Amino acid sequence: MNSTTVRILDHRTPEEREREFLPGMGKPWLLPFYDVFSRFSGVRPLHDRAAALAGIAPGEIVLDVGCGTASLSLAVLRAQPAARVTGLDPDVAALRVAARKASRRRVPLTLVQGFADRLPTGDGSLDHIVSSLALHHVPDEARIRFGQEAFRALRPGGKVTIVDFGSADGADGATGTDGATGATGADGATGGAHGAGQAGGEGHQHGRGRTRGPGSRGGYGRVRGHGGAGEHGGAGRGHSAVAANPHTARNLEGGLLRLFTDAGFTDAREIAHVEHRYGPITFVQATRA
Ligand SMILES: C[S@@+](CC[C@H](N)C(=O)[O-])C[C@H]1O[C@@H](n2cnc3c(N)ncnc32)[C@H](O)[C@@H]1O
Repeated sequence: MNSTTVRILDHRTPEEREREFLPGMGKPWLLPFYDVFSRFSGVRPLHDRAAALAGIAPGEIVLDVGCGTASLSLAVLRAQPAARVTGLDPDVAALRVAARKASRRRVPLTLVQGFADRLPTGDGSLDHIVSSLALHHVPDEARIRFGQEAFRALRPGGKVTIVDFGSADGADGATGTDGATGATGADGATGGAHGAGQAGGEGHQHGRGRTRGPGSRGGYGRVRGHGGAGEHGGAGRGHSAVAANPHTARNLEGGLLRLFTDAGFTDAREIAHVEHRYGPITFVQATRA
C-alpha cells in the first residue's frame, strides 16, 4: 500500500462514485482555504499531538482515514519518517492537494479515494489507523461499519488513534484521560481552522453538490471565542455548539469510545483532551486484541 512516490488510487465501486460525502469545510469550493485556516487557527498542533500520541514505530503500516489534505499523514511522517502511510478520503480534490504537499516535502505517501466504511486493505494488514477531525463527517451507519472495518484491518495488537470533536464524559465505564498524556490548555488556546472554515456556512454541502440531512444545521460557524470550560468541563460555548451540531454531538459523552468498544476493541480510552475554542477535542486510542 506504499511506495517511494506519491500516488492517488481510486478504490471506489461504481455505486460509491455516486455517493455523497461531507467535505472538509462543508462546501467543496472552500477547499483551497482549508490549509490556510488550519495553519492560522492552530489545528496543526492537534495533528502533531495525535501523531506523537500514536507512537508509531519504524516500518509500521498506517492508514489515515478521512485524510483530507493529509496534514495528519504528514505529521505522522514527521514524527516517524520510516512509517508507511496511506491516506484515505472520498474527496479527490483534497487528495490532489495532499499529493502536492507530499511531493513538495519529498515524502512517500499513497492516497486512496474511498470511504471509511470500506477500507482499502486486507484483514490484519495494518499496524495503526489514525484519523483527525474526520469521523464526525461520516454518517451513523458508515461510522459503525468503520469501527468494524478498523477491527478487521488491524493486526492483533494494532491500534487506532483518533482526534476529533468529542468528549469521554458520561461514557459507560470508559476511562477518561490517563494523566500522563491528558494535559490540556496549551493546544486549546490555538484556535480552530476546522471551525473557522465552516463559519458562515448555512449547512454542509455534500461532495456532489447537494446540501441535505443533519448538515443543514450548519458547522461551527456561530461559535465565537473560547469554550471557557475546564479540562473536562462541558459548559462552554464551544461545547454547546458541538452538542447542537448533530455531526459532532455523536462524539460527545463517550460516543467515540462506544464506537470502538462496540466494534470489539477492548481498551478504548480517551488519552488526551483539549478545550479548543471551537469545542472539546478528544484524543481516543484503542487496541485490537
Ligand atoms: C474536516 S476534514 C479533516 C481532514 C484531515 N483529516 C485534517 O485533519 O485536516 C474531514 C474529512 O473527512 C472526509 N470524509 C467525509 N466523509 C467521509 C467518509 N465517509 N469516509 C472517509 N472520509 C470522509 C472529508 O472529505 C474531509 O476530507
